[in-house]
Amino acid sequence: MEKLEQLKTRLAEVMNLSYASAVLGWDQQVNMPPGGAAARAEQLATLSKLAHETFVADETGKLLDEAAIEVKDADYDSDEAALVRVVQHDYDLLTRVPTALVQEITRTTTLAHETWAKARAEDDYESFAPSLEKIYDLMRQKADALGYEDRMYDALLDQYEPGMKTADVQRLFDGLRKELVPLVAAIFERLDKVDESIMHLDYPEDRQAEFGLMVAKKLGYDMERGRLDKAVHPFTTSFSTNDVRITTRYYPDYLPASVFSTIHEAGHGLYEQGSAQVLEGSPLAGGTSLGVHESQSRMWENIVGRSRGFWRYFYPRLQALFSEQLGEVDFETFYRAINAVTHSLIRTESDEVTYNLHIMLRFEMENDLLEGKLAIKDAPDAWNAKMESYLGITPPDDTKGILQDVHWSSGLTGYFPTYSLGNFLAVQYWDKALQDVPSIPDDIERGEFGSLLSWLRDNIHVHGRKFWPAELTERVTGEPIQTKSFMRYLTDKFTDIYDL
Ligand code: CO
Repeated sequence: MEKLEQLKTRLAEVMNLSYASAVLGWDQQVNMPPGGAAARAEQLATLSKLAHETFVADETGKLLDEAAIEVKDADYDSDEAALVRVVQHDYDLLTRVPTALVQEITRTTTLAHETWAKARAEDDYESFAPSLEKIYDLMRQKADALGYEDRMYDALLDQYEPGMKTADVQRLFDGLRKELVPLVAAIFERLDKVDESIMHLDYPEDRQAEFGLMVAKKLGYDMERGRLDKAVHPFTTSFSTNDVRITTRYYPDYLPASVFSTIHEAGHGLYEQGSAQVLEGSPLAGGTSLGVHESQSRMWENIVGRSRGFWRYFYPRLQALFSEQLGEVDFETFYRAINAVTHSLIRTESDEVTYNLHIMLRFEMENDLLEGKLAIKDAPDAWNAKMESYLGITPPDDTKGILQDVHWSSGLTGYFPTYSLGNFLAVQYWDKALQDVPSIPDDIERGEFGSLLSWLRDNIHVHGRKFWPAELTERVTGEPIQTKSFMRYLTDKFTDIYDL
């Protein structure tokens, strides 16, 4: 397979350039002094230009065509067939959008980011509206260039969740909304059942860091192939399957931020560290989609990390570190506090129950804005009306409403639904893991996470990007993505916590 080998050599160069960019990006968020920003932007631009040019070159397309002939009889599941399949998909995505449009999007969103940050700080939507107008115009051009059959949004969504269609997301959300809105309303009637004030005491950062590191290691995050650092916005990034970095943040007066960010990012990190070693350095290493990635982080963060079993093991250890704050707080009070539902207007601060309603709102608005059913000037009112309808709360200003997220100013239209898809998949995968390995809950109570991690490794992580998200879910669970498992999980858990 001579052409396939040549293709691999070429792709390795692209991957090396991308990984080098990732190192610079990690350093930018973790270590870089503010003065380095301008030079760093230039360095990243150069590297990404080189990676892009190498990848979209005609030579890559030619090698792909030739390699496709060489692997045409290979097993669908083989690494060779998967490589050609996945790279062809990436190649199509990147070559369909004209370079001039890519540059225009980069230029516009770089400026829009500044405009958005100022508008958010000053609660001034009007100053951001022209940028948003321009971005949606560019998103329409991008969708046209990428191509779609049914909905314009399909083209944008496919960049983050290959194969997923807008109509499918719509159907999942419509089903969920019917049951979720009444559950949220019922819990909002009984918010006084849970007191989370113990979370807002004084928690020294060094001890939070000590606890977070202990948890990440215990879950199986490999420190020989990883690091945990501090960043303003927690994230995970990889430079190799054998060098996966995670970050977290510490609030001195709010304990859950660091604990659950660390577990969340460790969940992403475990997925990245778990790709088969034979895929190392190839485009098949890493996660298959943002939704599947988020299923891993959310499973560890919420299903495992906010469960009674997890804390049966960890709570005595947390109490030992924070004896002054938590020494007298009983287990149930703590368990309920980490699962408190709140009237949050902010997506990133919202709880497991309300989170997907925040996403649903964004998904619907993105579609309406893209298809011209909603005017940019009317968007804040539409946002507030949906908040009232889904959550029964109205933002007092646009800073806490439509201006809260960075995504739209960055040109990330089509990205939001993947957060919810991850939440749904997390429960489906978890249910299947328990079916296959019934000892998992007992193991977790004893601080043994190996049985769950092995199951995830064998069924999900090891495949890297070899299978599309829908294929993977079908292979793992025997059914497509659905919301009934998620809804049952939420209802059971929160009926207990809020005595519904
Ligand atoms: Co995440």
